[in-house]
Amino acid sequence: MKQYLKHHEWHIIEEGLNPHYNQVSESVFSLGNGRMGQRANFEEDYSGETLQGSYVAGVYYPDKTRVGWWKNGYPEYFAKVLNAPSWIEIKIKIGDLVLDLAKCKVESFKRVLDMKQGLLQRIFTATLSDGKKVSVDAKRFCSMADGEIGAIRYEITALNFSAPITLTLPINADVVNKDSNYDEKFWEEVTKAAEPGWAIVNAATKKTNFHVCTGMQYDIQSAGKSIKGKVSTHVREKYADNVIETDLKENIPLTIYKYVAILSSENHAKDKLVATCKSKLKEAVTSGFEKLFSDHAKIWAHKWEECDITIDGDVAAQQGIRFNIFQLTQTYTGEDERLNIGPKGFTGEKYGGSTYWDTEAYCLPFFLSTAEPKVARNLLVYRYKHLGKAIENAKKLGFKEGAAFYPFVTMNGEECHNEWEITFEEIHRTSAMAYAMRDYIDYTGDREYLSEFGLEVLIGIARFWNQRVNWSDNKKKYVILGVTGPNEYENNVNNNWYTNYLGAWTLRFAMESADYVKQSNPTRYNEIITKTNFKDTEETERWKHIVENMYYPYDADRKVILQQDGFLDKELIPVKDLNPADRPLNQKWSWDRILRSCYIKQADVLQGIFLFEDDFDLETIRRNFDFYEPLTVHESSLSPCVHVILASKIGYKEQAYEFYLRTARLDLDDYNNDTEEGCHITSMAGTWMSLVKGFGGMRVRNGQLHFNPFIPDQWKSYSFRLEFRDRVIIVKVSKDKIDTVLEHGEPLEVIMNGKPVMLKSK
Ligand code: BGC
Repeated sequence: MKQYLKHHEWHIIEEGLNPHYNQVSESVFSLGNGRMGQRANFEEDYSGETLQGSYVAGVYYPDKTRVGWWKNGYPEYFAKVLNAPSWIEIKIKIGDLVLDLAKCKVESFKRVLDMKQGLLQRIFTATLSDGKKVSVDAKRFCSMADGEIGAIRYEITALNFSAPITLTLPINADVVNKDSNYDEKFWEEVTKAAEPGWAIVNAATKKTNFHVCTGMQYDIQSAGKSIKGKVSTHVREKYADNVIETDLKENIPLTIYKYVAILSSENHAKDKLVATCKSKLKEAVTSGFEKLFSDHAKIWAHKWEECDITIDGDVAAQQGIRFNIFQLTQTYTGEDERLNIGPKGFTGEKYGGSTYWDTEAYCLPFFLSTAEPKVARNLLVYRYKHLGKAIENAKKLGFKEGAAFYPFVTMNGEECHNEWEITFEEIHRTSAMAYAMRDYIDYTGDREYLSEFGLEVLIGIARFWNQRVNWSDNKKKYVILGVTGPNEYENNVNNNWYTNYLGAWTLRFAMESADYVKQSNPTRYNEIITKTNFKDTEETERWKHIVENMYYPYDADRKVILQQDGFLDKELIPVKDLNPADRPLNQKWSWDRILRSCYIKQADVLQGIFLFEDDFDLETIRRNFDFYEPLTVHESSLSPCVHVILASKIGYKEQAYEFYLRTARLDLDDYNNDTEEGCHITSMAGTWMSLVKGFGGMRVRNGQLHFNPFIPDQWKSYSFRLEFRDRVIIVKVSKDKIDTVLEHGEPLEVIMNGKPVMLKSK
């Protein structure tokens, strides 16, 4: 855990340059706009520890799988989000010396992420080895108003000298992925060009042949007037630049505006990329930095109106929730149904920028409540479009007759994860797609989704479970063997309760949905059964038998659900008795020791109870929480949020608050010592749920909103906003009262602390 960032309601602030924390800061201060994003790398050279990262949504490379021992069924490749052509560089040479903060005396350094306006700023003063002292004020943003535009304003001032300065402004596609399996570079050049004033590189990804055209144009000003300087241009493979030589005069700031356009063949015809890039650059320069920025900031203001959460009386918590909302919003804007939410968003390479079950299990509720229904629907349709591939994935593993096995990790629907314990065994993920549908329908009331898209998917997933279970003669029940539950610190277990419960629930939901479509839209139903070759009576008869005869591990003495068969054979030593030096276990212990231990990486039984909360009474929830919470190490970022929600439900307010801080400040305080690889974007949606579903106690039951709020002792008040069925509702919880305001829409009855309350707009 690191606590070096200053607390502030709207800003993330780092004061002083600590080279060991630089990569953590590069992740935390990342910028994005849904179409592209980047780590907070420096504009000028930096020879210290850094992970360079610039990413373009949807652009990936299928890196050939590398494993120690090949297992049949492994995918051929792991899809990786690419470190894309770099556009932020502004290299500075003063006299003969390069400005490099790793080699200068840095006298003051401040990095600020203004979350309200989506602006990254760095201000520093540094002395070069020859005694020349400069100050720099660098600002940049990735435009929310035009997802293909980025802009930098870099101001440098000589504090104790006048000297020649050389500025290099490149576009560089000669970049690498740190996680490249075979040290390969993934980009090839299509074209490049540089002329005084601009440079463009059009590059293509190997194998996938995505084209990304990146161009820059600039303006340099001294004392408020544009200057030309002596310009030379250079091109080499995958690279183009302008080098400008001019004079840096003592105390007269030199301001470099670098305007950038990044276009991908996902959105433009390949043969039009360069021309469009040039015209977008021209427009950007004409608009100028201030106008581009004010357009961008306006969009942020609007986004904050839609999804801000305020917390009064606790700056750390306020900063935490805003940071989570900020990062989520700049990762996924919901405008493009081909895109999804990678666990690291645009903040790092880990997890390949691909889509995980995280989207359905954690992110969907955030988008359901803070955006128009189309956004959440797009996320569901994304999986509908992958149904064919999910059926292929299942076929590769020996399933048949239209069984659909959704991938654990994917870019285009194909599985690209290659660890047997996850690829083959973490099968619960296929049902996250079904659960998300239920969530969506409950929240929006759009049951027609089932006829249009949903039922086809459900039939496929139900067929998977139907084939994946087996009848145990011994238990006289259906069992599910050889799985990994959400808790990845257990592999190849039998009867993981969460998996069995979810599998059986999916079969039930698929049957109910089939019935609904049959009744409500017989024509469409007939189309679906023909298309999927669904023998409804025969298939659902067996599904029903499974639902009624599924085995669920349980300990009658303790009256707790068992995470899996044999869980109680483990030595049950609570986490609090572990030596702190052993944490995090995944960095300190051998894998086999972890597997044999009782420690739970992330909510598993509790995850299931959270999803199906209404199936359990309060006492059962409390008993299971009391049993599993002390054994949970939360080494997945996705874990604490579930614990906040359940702790809130059972009245463990202090614990709920502790977990809340852990999820909300996970990256800001680097709790799991891994933020340098990127931020935990998908778990940020869990933070939102912690507050709204945890503290706010928000649920939807039978189409009606319920609230059961409490306020942590540390807070004076908090408020959140929901979009719900054409209404906008603001809930404000203070120590002594709860205000629920209908800001927009027709009157609505909600249930507040068990009692109906009619909301009317003023
Ligand atoms: C978790 C998975 C999750 C993945 C990506 C892993 O550490 O155990 O549940 O899907 O991270 O967030």
